[in-house]
Amino acid sequence: MKTIKQLKVKTASSNYSIYFGNDFIKSFPLKKISNSKEIFIIFDSKMPDLSIRKVKSFIRKSMPSKFDSFKFIANEKNKSIETSQKIIERLIDLKFSRDSLIVSFGGGITTDLAGFVASVYLRGIEVMHIPTTLLAQVDASVGGKTGVNSKKFKNMIGAFKQPAAVLIDTYFLKSLSKRHLAAGYSEIIKHALIEDKNLLSKLDNFDQNIKKKGNITELSNLIRISTKIKANIVEQDEREKSVRAHLNFGHTFAHAIESVQSFKGLNHGEAVGVGMVCAAKLSLLLGKINSQEFDKIKSLIKKFNLPTKLPANCEPAKILKAMQSDKKSKDATLRFIIIDGIGKVKIVENVDKEKILISLKI
Ligand SMILES: NC(=O)c1ccc[n+]([C@@H]2O[C@H](COP(=O)([O-])OP(=O)(O)OC[C@H]3O[C@@H](n4cnc5c(N)ncnc54)[C@H](O)[C@@H]3O)[C@@H](O)[C@H]2O)c1
Repeated sequence: MKTIKQLKVKTASSNYSIYFGNDFIKSFPLKKISNSKEIFIIFDSKMPDLSIRKVKSFIRKSMPSKFDSFKFIANEKNKSIETSQKIIERLIDLKFSRDSLIVSFGGGITTDLAGFVASVYLRGIEVMHIPTTLLAQVDASVGGKTGVNSKKFKNMIGAFKQPAAVLIDTYFLKSLSKRHLAAGYSEIIKHALIEDKNLLSKLDNFDQNIKKKGNITELSNLIRISTKIKANIVEQDEREKSVRAHLNFGHTFAHAIESVQSFKGLNHGEAVGVGMVCAAKLSLLLGKINSQEFDKIKSLIKKFNLPTKLPANCEPAKILKAMQSDKKSKDATLRFIIIDGIGKVKIVENVDKEKILISLKI
């Protein structure tokens, strides 16, 4: 019998569980989560055949009366209204009812897209996530933000839709590239820096070779602690009216880097890696951490193979301009999440432009 751990999440709109383990999907009883007999999987075309077979056999065991799937190439271009429309037309053609369950199987692009479709099809049906990237396991699949991109901007169309459950199985990470693993560690580091000093020292001591015996269990542990931090914050503030903004630590810088590079340079997790170094530098300039603490943060980010310097095409002035024109920034005021002593953060506004520019010179 595989060890499965459970985390219960209670938000204002719904209660659900997140299950954690290694290679547990095949033997997991779907009826624990949903009574739906009409199941539709949206999956990433890069998932290996064996992984897809595991998920399909897990679903078939629940003897669905209707079962179909949609495979797509997971990229930002396809995280779109057009792809959602294709899926919705298929659901309509196959007469999937209001009692259907959508299952997402892929990284953050897949969980965002599937969650969005589930939030609008027949005014909302159930969705369950089986995230397959580290970033989606610790971040995108938890918290209920779903969405697709507009023609020009990322994540401009979407809805809050809490899942019926999330199944976090580290088995699926085995096929993930080193680069995408690193992107996921970035969000774990973020959770540690904003909330949990102990997680920070666990990360310090962690051996990233997940092929080595015992390390995958430790990774599962780190994922569970990290997910719990995100879930706790979402429980307090589902719609990002207050503390949920803390999860944006490093992200004001990261979004600007991604946009200056037209989303073709660093991936999101990598941009967050650099963004956290900039945010830590700003915290240092504002006297909230000392230089040893800054160096420690920077070397932890480096340890996880994440970039710690701005890419060559991202001059500080360009980044500042991109931050100022961010479509999502509230009433054009720049807000930064800074470290207020390791393991704690706070929101600051009206930061001197010179300080912002210096914090970009890392
Ligand atoms: N909703 C949220 O709260 C939230 C939070 C963070 C990020 N996001 C969104 O998530 C997306 C980024 O997510 P991501 O980093 O997981 O990217 P992704 O979904 O693009 O996956 C990264 C790459 O890995 C491949 N892949 C996925 N799982 C794999 C596996 N197990 N083995 C081999 N290849 C695999 C994908 O095909 C893709 O090429 C962005 O669109 C971002 O906006 C959403």
